[in-house]
Amino acid sequence: MPRDTNTHGDIFGGWLMSQMDLAGGVAAGQRAKGRIVTVAVEKMVFHLPVKVGNVVSCYADVIKVGRTSITVKIEVWAQRHDDLDEPAKVTEGIFTYVALDKNRRPRAVK
Ligand SMILES: CC(C)(COP(=O)(O)OP(=O)(O)OC[C@H]1O[C@@H](n2cnc3c(N)ncnc32)[C@H](O)[C@@H]1OP(=O)(O)O)[C@@H](O)C(=O)NCCC(=O)NCCS
Repeated sequence: MPRDTNTHGDIFGGWLMSQMDLAGGVAAGQRAKGRIVTVAVEKMVFHLPVKVGNVVSCYADVIKVGRTSITVKIEVWAQRHDDLDEPAKVTEGIFTYVALDKNRRPRAVK
């Protein structure tokens, strides 16, 4: 949407990262079977711009499960305005989440 753009009309990287964090958080929360929190983001690459009106899809794959942490690779693909266009991979990154107990301390993932 236009509200999510910078002054040049491209979508903010921060908006895209928040969508990725949500997608990764769903995958990590399902794996952890409970509350999780984002502890680190790495290897973020913005390959191509996202434009107003593009339909973006976030794909999250759990790639590593540690004692209390869950690492998720997230790719974002954009469908451009022309429905005939193939979707393009616009962004990817690796997000790490930590499972928390009720006292907000790291909890072992079973
Ligand atoms: C997440 C948090 C509870 C971890 O606490 P901590 O005392 O650092 O816990 P630990 O050192 O035991 O680390 C917990 C796990 O996180 C991993 N971890 C910690 N820092 C990391 C980093 N920078 N990158 C990747 N993994 C990391 C550890 O390797 C460990 O994983 P493992 O148990 O699978 O081996 C604490 O750092 C925190 O609350 N951070 C703020 C989170 C937050 O508010 N996020 C939203 C930001 S708006």
